[in-house]
Amino acid sequence: MQDLQDKVAVITGAGSGFGRAFAQLCAAEGMRLVLADIDEAGLAHTCALLPDGTETLTLRCDVADADAVQTLAERTYARFGACHLLFNNAGVAVAGPSWTTTLDDWRWVLGVNLMGVVHGVQSFVPRMLEQGDECHVVNTASVAGLLSVPGSSVYCVSKHGVVTLSECLHHELRAAHAKIGVSVLCPAFVPTGIADAERNRPARFAAKNPRAAPYEARVRKAVQSGKLSAADIARATMQAVKADRFYILTHPTIKAAIETRMRDILDERTPANPMP
Ligand SMILES: NC(=O)c1ccc[n+]([C@@H]2O[C@H](COP(=O)([O-])OP(=O)(O)OC[C@H]3O[C@@H](n4cnc5c(N)ncnc54)[C@H](O)[C@@H]3O)[C@@H](O)[C@H]2O)c1
Repeated sequence: MQDLQDKVAVITGAGSGFGRAFAQLCAAEGMRLVLADIDEAGLAHTCALLPDGTETLTLRCDVADADAVQTLAERTYARFGACHLLFNNAGVAVAGPSWTTTLDDWRWVLGVNLMGVVHGVQSFVPRMLEQGDECHVVNTASVAGLLSVPGSSVYCVSKHGVVTLSECLHHELRAAHAKIGVSVLCPAFVPTGIADAERNRPARFAAKNPRAAPYEARVRKAVQSGKLSAADIARATMQAVKADRFYILTHPTIKAAIETRMRDILDERTPANPMP
């Protein structure tokens, strides 16, 4: 998809980080925007950063709630009659050893990171198929979807799920001769609000991994020292959308660890720790 002028972008997690950067870039491309998040103050902040005259619909939407995402799609088509570029981007993170993870950790993170993307695909792709014009779906995974990082099993499982869901979706849409491209975004650490994802944990999933603290501290340090910005990630993503490129690996130095994992699997070697 080359010309984005007046096309419609739907962005989940638009109240912070990558989602906000996607919104700014899409607005600069002259797109009309649907911005969704559970954080309404964050959405208002994003809107305040957009150029005057940007046509925007904002909606409080919990992506873990299938009905809420259906409503997001209904409201998008009621207002704009189309969705050309869908960013299934909202996400959260937890940390800690696998054997002390809690069911609340799993339910919360898989609900947002994996089921949020599932809901986006279910609610928007059938409408995009009916629409019939060129569309693109960007699913935000992570390098955690291509690696197995100690202390991040819940997050890694959710992001590996997003990678394979995206690959399956790509194959299915190709087989159906649909004009819908798919990309999966796999960045390494970038300074955003992700290290403070606990701010988004619902009260009903309050039980957190009791041994999270040292792992959280490590993730926070890595996130804060990330060299690329959310704007850099958004630019790389938009280039991939325009080139109809599936994998978006924004941090080339991490490719060695991905290659090692692939080799470990093919050679049936003991897996190397990607973050020793
Ligand atoms: N920052 C990184 O280092 C990094 C690296 C790889 C992947 N990612 C992924 O990028 C995506 C965006 O995260 P970010 O880094 O911009 O973090 P962020 O915390 O700055 O933004 C995430 C946004 O998602 C929203 N959100 C959380 N739960 C939600 C829910 N249930 N429904 C709707 N919105 C919800 C938050 O309110 C927030 O506005 C996530 O999927 C994350 O896993 C981040």
